[in-house]
Amino acid sequence: MAKPKTRYVCQACGSISHRWQGQCADCGEWNTLAEEAPKTVFSAKHDLSSGGRAIAFEPLDAPGRPLKRRSTGLAEFDRALGGGLVPGSAILMGGDPGIGKSTLLLQAAARVALAGGDTVYISGEEAAGQVRLRADRLGLASAPIRLAAATSVRDILTTLGGMDPPALLVIDSIQTMHSDQIEGAPGTVSQVRGCAFELIRYAKESGVALVLVGHVTKDGSIAGPRVLEHMVDVVMSFEGERSHQYRILRSLKNRFGPVDEIGVFAMAGQGLEEVGNPSMLFLSGREGAIPGSAVFPAMEGTRPVLVEVQALIVRLASGATPRRAVVGWDSGRLAMLLAVLEARCGLNFSSAEVYLNVAGGYRLADPAADLAVAAALISALGDRPLPADAVWFGEVSLAGEVRPVAHASLRQREAAKLGFGSAHGPAGGGNGEKGMRYAPVALLPNLVDHILSEA
Ligand code: TYD
Ligand code: MG
Repeated sequence: MAKPKTRYVCQACGSISHRWQGQCADCGEWNTLAEEAPKTVFSAKHDLSSGGRAIAFEPLDAPGRPLKRRSTGLAEFDRALGGGLVPGSAILMGGDPGIGKSTLLLQAAARVALAGGDTVYISGEEAAGQVRLRADRLGLASAPIRLAAATSVRDILTTLGGMDPPALLVIDSIQTMHSDQIEGAPGTVSQVRGCAFELIRYAKESGVALVLVGHVTKDGSIAGPRVLEHMVDVVMSFEGERSHQYRILRSLKNRFGPVDEIGVFAMAGQGLEEVGNPSMLFLSGREGAIPGSAVFPAMEGTRPVLVEVQALIVRLASGATPRRAVVGWDSGRLAMLLAVLEARCGLNFSSAEVYLNVAGGYRLADPAADLAVAAALISALGDRPLPADAVWFGEVSLAGEVRPVAHASLRQREAAKLGFGSAHGPAGGGNGEKGMRYAPVALLPNLVDHILSEA
């Protein structure tokens, strides 16, 4: 019998290679290939066509049990989940260190426990005393949570097997878990994958809602195996700038609900507070009538969020290479927009430094931000403030056309609700929203004329 070949597994993406390489051929990461024991490979001699149990087939329209979701007690968390925790489902929660994952889950666990759901919180990172201290600080010390500091999945599953399944099981974090039946140190692909597999199987069989905390690498993906994302039902990411107080809980994959739904929180002295009206948060402290400031009604899933885009243009006297710096938006997109403004509108940014900032530490991903950014840039370049009651949205093409974007009416409704009186967007985007004047902008040169000619 041929000797099974040694295999090398990329610790970043889980891909397998048969020889060692400095760089993973799949994900391009360097020095991530590690040798792992060869897996038993099924040979053709294995006969899989007999000896198994017969499985039962079901029609698609069988009267299934309706999903009975359980509230986390935090409306923003429920919203991001698409309506609450689904029993027997597995949620992977990623996020930078220190962003507040443990805090959020402790708060949710406490609310579930206070509402009568049995809750188990396993911490592999902090001692039980540390978690208790945090709960004390959050004013949740009285919540009947079962708390343990453990890292052995065998111990955890043995313990859980001997009691009634809880409603919610939190594992903080999956990278600290290990199984003695799997080779490798905690945190390696095989350990993370194996431990997650066992925990998820337990959750599915016993109807427990399972939340796994996952660490995030520098580039923002969940550390270790991408395979984890395939194994779970819901992938969530908890994001924010540590220097700012707001946090966004985003769902990236959801087998039971829509993706792109967000929950907004603010980190305060008493833990995470829910932010029901995020537009207020991002626009707070805004002074009207400053050149270079434009308000953009962004969409987060089905939810509009108003944010302020700020541009600053500094003319350079010498021939030094001007800087372009962007916070909260894509720098490639800014370069494109500047090129369109130069080529199609005859504006000149070549000897000027351009700084762009999205207020509040918010990160814009919505392509409809183009028009607001263009308005901010034109306003900064011409030193003309934009009308204080205006919002701007639309995608700009390389030809300088302003393209229609999704949810034009939702964006305007949110703006109207917050007291804005006019919206500038693509032709045909006006929907006669009450109290909202709609000014269509077909081409970017029209916008330049409009802003620079208005006294
Ligand atoms: P934590 O939940 O430990 O982050 P993670 O589990 O994602 O690594 O959050 C830690 C940060 O949150 C820490 O820097 C302090 C801050 N924090 C507050 O500002 N207020 C609070 O009430 C708590 C509990 C934490
Ligand atoms: Mg933590």
